[in-house]
Amino acid sequence: MASHGRRRRCTPDADGWVAHRRPLPASIAGCPDLVTGVLGVAEQAAGGDDGGVVTIADIVAAPPGEGQVVDPRLWFAAPGPLEVEIGCGKGGFLLHRARTQPHVCLLGIEWANKYFRFCADRMARWQLANVRVMRTDAREFVVHHLQAECVTTLHLYHPDPWPKKRHHKRRLVQAPFVAAVARVLAAGGRWRIQTDHEDYFQSIREVVEQEPRLHPVPWDDDPTLVEEGWSGTNFEIKYLRDGRAIHRVAYEKRRQEPFSGATGAV
Ligand SMILES: C[S@@+](CC[C@H](N)C(=O)[O-])C[C@H]1O[C@@H](n2cnc3c(N)ncnc32)[C@H](O)[C@@H]1O
Repeated sequence: MASHGRRRRCTPDADGWVAHRRPLPASIAGCPDLVTGVLGVAEQAAGGDDGGVVTIADIVAAPPGEGQVVDPRLWFAAPGPLEVEIGCGKGGFLLHRARTQPHVCLLGIEWANKYFRFCADRMARWQLANVRVMRTDAREFVVHHLQAECVTTLHLYHPDPWPKKRHHKRRLVQAPFVAAVARVLAAGGRWRIQTDHEDYFQSIREVVEQEPRLHPVPWDDDPTLVEEGWSGTNFEIKYLRDGRAIHRVAYEKRRQEPFSGATGAV
């Protein structure tokens, strides 16, 4: 008699999917903090860059070593513009973006191990050859390890606001980080920021607008990022349900260095 009881299907279109729990593949046993974990193994379907199966090992990018500078565009078999999402959480935005813009190369950075694992597993289930996920501190990565001018769009959605004044120094968006973002963005590249926290939003605008290489642009002027069918990041959905306002701003890296002042012109 056929047994139906223990067979579970993935339903990867919602955060509530049921994972197949299997031991972590040996191929990623070297990844930091993954060694003790279990992750679901992707459904076997065609989809890799080379036409093969995309595994979690393909999705996970190891954090760079000390002094190492990386160009993540080289990690993808198919060349394309590089977009980076900082604090990708469970990967809702990455998933949507990767599926709707298959020519874009996406890198999600997440510090929390639980979300990093969830996100990497989710990308593999969807067989997304155009996504990599890295567990690291995004501040360190952007400031010290990311190749100059390699990023087309940097997404930062609902960064931790650290609301207490004595914790403001832990906020990600501060002058050294902003300078690093200006360095890693390609000319004409965009930085999109969204938060539910008004005080942090004001502080972000103040500090970013001190950076001469960046200037504000309309949030809505990239139609590929304002698509029908996009209901928002996890935190956005949660806060909209609570009736909170969502604040958004986008910046572009100037195509030419801003005028720096003194000249010998007559
Ligand atoms: C408030 S959640 C927002 C998640 C997602 N962007 C969203 O909108 O649903 C912030 C996320 O950023 C991650 N995070 C915070 N600081 C980080 C850092 N320095 N580097 C990488 N990830 C970080 C947190 O672990 C968390 O998953």
